[in-house]
Amino acid sequence: MDTITAKRGRLQTVVLPLMRCIRCKGADWQLEAATLACRGCGARYRVHNDIPLMIEDPDAAINFAPEVVVENHYSEQWNELLRRAGAGPVLDLGSGNNPNPVSHLIKLDIFALPHVDVVGMAENLPFRDGTFRTVMSGAVFEHVQNPFYSISEVHRVLAEEGDVYIETAFLQPVHAFPSHYFNMTRMGLEYVCRDFKKFASGAQPHQNPAFALSWYLDVFASKLPFAAKHEFLRMTVAEILDECQVNPLGTPLLKHLSEQDREQLACGVYFYGRKTQNGAASVAPLPEATAEARKLPGWRRVLRGWRRLRRAFWGLVLRLVAPIFAKKSAK
Ligand SMILES: C[S@@+](CC[C@H](N)C(=O)[O-])C[C@H]1O[C@@H](n2cnc3c(N)ncnc32)[C@H](O)[C@@H]1O
Ligand SMILES: [Zn+2]
Repeated sequence: MDTITAKRGRLQTVVLPLMRCIRCKGADWQLEAATLACRGCGARYRVHNDIPLMIEDPDAAINFAPEVVVENHYSEQWNELLRRAGAGPVLDLGSGNNPNPVSHLIKLDIFALPHVDVVGMAENLPFRDGTFRTVMSGAVFEHVQNPFYSISEVHRVLAEEGDVYIETAFLQPVHAFPSHYFNMTRMGLEYVCRDFKKFASGAQPHQNPAFALSWYLDVFASKLPFAAKHEFLRMTVAEILDECQVNPLGTPLLKHLSEQDREQLACGVYFYGRKTQNGAASVAPLPEATAEARKLPGWRRVLRGWRRLRRAFWGLVLRLVAPIFAKKSAK
C-alpha cells in the first residue's frame, strides 16, 4: 500500500467518523476523490493529499512559507499522555508536522503538512461533540486569534472525563507561525482553562527561565550587525543591566534595532483608537516619552566608565576585523 492510499484509508475509517461540518455542524459526509461534501448544507471542502481542508481559506492551508513548518517529536510527557489515553482518540491541536505515528491520534493544523490528518482552526474545530479522550496542544495557544473560543471548542470536543493538556508561551519574543497574538501567565492560562478541573499547572522544566533568557538574548543578538553583535556578546550581565537601567530610553544598545525589531522584543505594546461611525481614524502622534538617565553612585559611575572604555577598545578591534570576515564569507 503506498502512503497516499494508506492516508485515504485512515481518512475514511479513523478520521471521518469523528468529523463534523464547520458550517452546519452536521456529520453526513460524502467523500469524493478531491472533495468532502456535506450532505447537510451542501458545503464542499477541498481534500488535498487526502487531508480535508476544513477552513474558509483552503489556499492558505496549502501555500505556506517553509519557515512555518515545525517537526518536533513528542517528549516523554506527551508519550505518557498518549499512553494514559489508552485506545481512546487523542487530538493534537496545532500538531505542526509531528511525525509520531499513532493510529488513534488525530493531528490537526492550519497547514496541510504531510503528517497532518485534518486542516482546521482551533476556533472552529471540525469534530463532533464529546469525541476525544484527550486533547493536547503545544505552543499553539499564543498563535490562536481567540483563546477563549478555542478552549471552548476543546471543551466541546472532549468526552466526559476527557483530559486536556496545554502548553503555551509566557516570556517569549514574537514568533509568527503564522501570527502571534497572546502570551499568557500561569494565571491567564488557568483562567482560560477555568471550565476544567485542574490536576496541575505551572512551568515545565523545558519552559524554564534559562530558555526564556537565551531565546530573548539570542534574538536580540541576531538583530545586530556583525561588530555590534560581537560587542553585545562580549558584555557581562552587569554591563547589560547597567546599559538598560541607567538610560532605558536612550541606551546605545537599541541603536541598531529597527521599529519592527523593537516591537518583536518589546516589554509591552499599546493601542490608541477612537469609537467612530465614519471610519476616519487618524490623529497627530502623541509626543515621545522621555526619561532622565538615572544618577549612579560615584563608584558605579567609575566602574561603568571603565567597562565602556574596555568595550570601546574591543569594539574598535571588531570593527577593524569585520571587513576581513565579510570578504571571506563573500568568497
Ligand atoms: C509553534 S508551532 C507548534 C507545533 C507543535 N505543536 C510543537 O509543539 O512542535 C504552532 C503550530 O500551531 C499551528 N496553528 C497556528 N494557528 C492555529 C490555529 N488557529 N488553529 C490550529 N493550529 C494553529 C501552526 O500552524 C503551527 O504548526
Ligand atoms: Zn454542512
